[in-house]
Amino acid sequence: MSKDNIILGIESSCDDTSVAISSNTKILANITATQAIHEQYGGVVPELASRAHQQNIVPVVEAALKKAKIELSEVDAIAFTKGQGLLGSLLVGTSFAKSLSLGLNKPLIGVNHMKGHILAHFIDQEGKEKPQFPFICLTVSGGHTQLVKISAPLKMEVLGETIDDAAGEAFDKAAKLMGLPYPGGPLIDKYAQTGNKKRFEFTFPKPNDNNYSFSGLKTQFMNFLKKGLKEDENFIKKNLNDICASYQAHIINYLFKNLIKVAKQEKINHIAIAGGVSANSYLRNELKTIGNKYNWETYIPEFQYCTDNAGMIAITGYYQFLENDFCEQSVVPNPRIKVEE
Ligand code: KG4
Ligand code: ZN
Repeated sequence: MSKDNIILGIESSCDDTSVAISSNTKILANITATQAIHEQYGGVVPELASRAHQQNIVPVVEAALKKAKIELSEVDAIAFTKGQGLLGSLLVGTSFAKSLSLGLNKPLIGVNHMKGHILAHFIDQEGKEKPQFPFICLTVSGGHTQLVKISAPLKMEVLGETIDDAAGEAFDKAAKLMGLPYPGGPLIDKYAQTGNKKRFEFTFPKPNDNNYSFSGLKTQFMNFLKKGLKEDENFIKKNLNDICASYQAHIINYLFKNLIKVAKQEKINHIAIAGGVSANSYLRNELKTIGNKYNWETYIPEFQYCTDNAGMIAITGYYQFLENDFCEQSVVPNPRIKVEE
């Protein structure tokens, strides 16, 4: 039997410094340092993010190795996020990975962040089946909203995507307008739990093939709040739960509209969700309900593998390792890399 492949994965694309150690498809450690500094600014400040990555990276690597009970000398390859993301943040992870690879004389693997979100489904997770190929993944995060067809671990095709804002941004921007701290998505989810989702109505933009558009929704929501506040200055406070429930349901229903359409078009009934917004409880529940209706096999990752984490980078690195997909020391981050690349 061949020996297990140990991958050290590094994720630093945005505001989370994360390091994971994997052994084949098993994650031995997945440690994330979240940067609280951005909360007060209502969004990620790129300069502060890269500085915090520099401070966090060494302790996070040490903590991951310790948790995994793995020595650096046992690591077979170093995988890092090469894009998408913020250039300054990506540079910290890239430079660190390069030095580690050079120092240990171990191969370097550049991982596509969006592929990582999707391949998180192939991490061994208790009680969870892994998706069968081909499957469709709705990838929804702070930076992306895509419908992707996956035919093999590293073979992906975009079937539809947002033409402007991402679904996560639609959550975060609305939360900011209501005076909630960043990131607002999890808070909208929390307040929505006890709200009435039918109380307020919003409209969908006109469908344009399989794509999405969220920028108009922000303006719609802003005008909705303005109108409410004109009538009652405590409008938000008094109706927070119903506003959150209605707005959240609107976004999720909109996401499902195109998902159902592409699943029919492609005649695929294996459906997964990925990315930070897939932590949303309404989305997770709806996937099960709609999945039952359409006879889908559905796949929902554990919470820890929804938002940015290095486990997903290590698992993607593992599949690339099997294909000898290594990169040179001259590699540079690519903040705008496409999921197919
Ligand atoms: O994947 P992720 O951690 O980072 C990016 O690659 O963007 O996604 C972060 C996004 C944020 O917009 C955050 O508000 C959203 O995921 N998010 C949620 C929830 N948890 C995280 N949105 C709605 N409901 C949640 N429970
Ligand atoms: Zn992400």
